[in-house]
Amino acid sequence: MNIENAVVLVTGANRGLGKQLVLASLQAGARKVYAGARDPAQLAELVAESGGRVVPLAIDVTREESLAAAARIATDVTLLFNNAGVVASHQVLTSSLPALQQDFATNFFGVVAATKAFVPALERSAQAGSAAIVNILSVVSLASMPAVGGYSASKAAAHSLTQTLRGELAAKKVQVHGVFAGAIDTDMTRDMNMPKTSPVDVARAILRGVRAGAEDIFPDVMAEELFATWRRDPKELERQLASMSG
Ligand SMILES: NC(=O)c1ccc[n+]([C@@H]2O[C@H](COP(=O)([O-])OP(=O)(O)OC[C@H]3O[C@@H](n4cnc5c(N)ncnc54)[C@H](OP(=O)(O)O)[C@@H]3O)[C@@H](O)[C@H]2O)c1
Repeated sequence: MNIENAVVLVTGANRGLGKQLVLASLQAGARKVYAGARDPAQLAELVAESGGRVVPLAIDVTREESLAAAARIATDVTLLFNNAGVVASHQVLTSSLPALQQDFATNFFGVVAATKAFVPALERSAQAGSAAIVNILSVVSLASMPAVGGYSASKAAAHSLTQTLRGELAAKKVQVHGVFAGAIDTDMTRDMNMPKTSPVDVARAILRGVRAGAEDIFPDVMAEELFATWRRDPKELERQLASMSG
């Protein structure tokens, strides 16, 4: 799908990868970008520097009423980035149930709820030309990294959800992409000691993948390498991720 003239919506747009997806979309010629954040005050700089092209929206993906209110405003979305995410739990056996539930509430049910909220607009856009959903998954959607086992399970579920949405929306001509990112240099990985790719580069690679129509997008070197391992031997990827500390 073309980003030029697209009307984009990014959840979790106030920092990290989400903020860079907003900037990359603007750079690629998006007509308008709805920037979703739990605290829209944190979007002030993005809005001020966008020349009117960034529209701030209050969106908490775990609150259906906030998504419903946003969907009443953003009726013209053509490209949805389900980007908002958290690492609330770590190792499954030592994490609390509420922490594990928060991972699923945001990374799985949040994607379900945001997609349901904006699917009517996306289906209209698809009828008029093109529309797409981009789910920001992770390489740990392919095999679990026990150091962040709860997060991995939620991202594996989001991968399955991505496949199901692709099947459900095929007849409506809404494209569905999954992004299997490796480590990105954002707040989320601040305490993780491993090579990380800049969110600027990852955002640009994601847009290249969307433009090229790639269903599965591997936007950085770590993602490409781990995907190659998974294709060769899924058990080897499982062992490799099990040996990594978070
Ligand atoms: N960093 C990595 O290595 C990595 C690797 C693979 C995939 N990812 C995925 O990439 C996406 C972006 O992560 P990031 O690295 O940019 O992390 P980040 O810097 O921690 O940013 C997370 C973003 O999600 C938002 N968010 C969290 N819970 C939310 C909710 N309930 N409703 C709306 N927004 C919410 C945060 O908003 P607040 O400011 O309000 O908290 C923030 O804007 C996530 O889906 C993550 O799982 C990251």
